Amino acid sequence: MDDTTAPPRLTRLTFHGPLSEDRAAGMIRRLTAQAAPAPTTVLDIGCGWGELMLRLLEATPGATGVGIDLNEDDLARGRAGAEARGLAERVRFVQESAVDTTQGPADLVLCLGASHALSEAQPPEHTTAALRALRRLVTPGGRVLLGEAFWHRPPTRGELSAMWPDASASEFHDLAGLVDLAVAAGFRPSWIETAGRDEWEHFESAYQSDVEEWLAAHPDHPLAKETRDRVDRHRSTWLRGYRDVMGLAYLTLVPVS
Ligand SMILES: C[S@@+](CC[C@H](N)C(=O)[O-])C[C@H]1O[C@@H](n2cnc3c(N)ncnc32)[C@H](O)[C@@H]1O
Repeated sequence: MDDTTAPPRLTRLTFHGPLSEDRAAGMIRRLTAQAAPAPTTVLDIGCGWGELMLRLLEATPGATGVGIDLNEDDLARGRAGAEARGLAERVRFVQESAVDTTQGPADLVLCLGASHALSEAQPPEHTTAALRALRRLVTPGGRVLLGEAFWHRPPTRGELSAMWPDASASEFHDLAGLVDLAVAAGFRPSWIETAGRDEWEHFESAYQSDVEEWLAAHPDHPLAKETRDRVDRHRSTWLRGYRDVMGLAYLTLVPVS
């Protein structure tokens, strides 16, 4: 056993969210092949390692992309992914906050699970603030792909107490309310879809399974106890808290005047 080996982080995730290969392929078709004119610029807000942006760039020869995020490990993974696909000259992964970003505007703006990155506003106002920023960041005729949390149904008091600290029923909107907010911010919803249970289970399992395998192989590692406590807490938050209650909506939004 190598006691200096740290637990792995997110190595089994393709996307940092509940997104299947099929849904991602459909999004790419809608955002590129069916778009006229073809997009030339992509901006990925809170990009992480920017997997969807890289796939969009592969599908759109000549387009360039910028991803911004605070997490340098994830950005490095994005740069390595770009290098491996021959996209290094066409994409930049920049470590900076998206709050009041001076990047953009771009023809395609992605904001997947990262609306909180666009402002200092607290939930639920962060969604309106993010939509306002996204409206400013997209070019006329462009598209925004927003991946945003919503409640499938109001959470019970017990479910809320099992979620993250200070979780509240007013934190998110329902799906209809979320789409209404997008319309009020100057968009029309071109496509409305939501992550299914299979996508959530794949995401949540992949989120933790590398760590679970590591724990099984390193039961006496100095970091084993705190790591086990962390994954136990997260699993409970999911299974007792937000499973089947919190959804993730993917809204393809067209800016209108
Ligand atoms: C759930 S992850 C989603 C990553 C990516 N969009 C994806 O779908 O694979 C949310 C990301 O937002 C980033 N983030 C949080 N606050 C941010 C900020 N102020 N500016 C830029 N990125 C931020 C986090 O570092 C994290 O990578």
